[in-house]
Amino acid sequence: MSKHHLIWNENVHPVGIAAIDRQHREIIERVNLISDMVAQGNRHEATQEEMEDLILFTVEHFALEERLMAEYGFPGLDTHIAEHAILFQQIDNLRNALRTPNPTKAALVSAFLTDWAEQHILHSDKEIGAFLAARGCSQ
Ligand SMILES: [Fe+2]
Ligand SMILES: [Fe+2]
Repeated sequence: MSKHHLIWNENVHPVGIAAIDRQHREIIERVNLISDMVAQGNRHEATQEEMEDLILFTVEHFALEERLMAEYGFPGLDTHIAEHAILFQQIDNLRNALRTPNPTKAALVSAFLTDWAEQHILHSDKEIGAFLAARGCSQ
């Protein structure tokens, strides 16, 4: 297993809304896979394909969170959407970086995982999870 893997921790990562947690789990698995592919020097094309899939999945994930926040009147909606926009920019940058030979690829994937999974999920997404759960959201 790559040292750049992030391990899903049932005591730490869940935000309390099952649909969001399922997607977060999948996102972490997908980024771990990309991390492995980069570490093993896989074909650019294969890594690119995984990256494209991750991007599509991310679009779906952000849309779910944003829909739930809007539906339940989350007060920090605009700030959260702005964070998603920044993360999306980072994914796009990562996609571009992985397209070309780049000795720091593994570090880039790892930095992305940390920013996203450790920062955004553990802080911002937990806030929306707590808010939604308190309002009886059962997604
Ligand atoms: Fe989010
Ligand atoms: Fe999220």
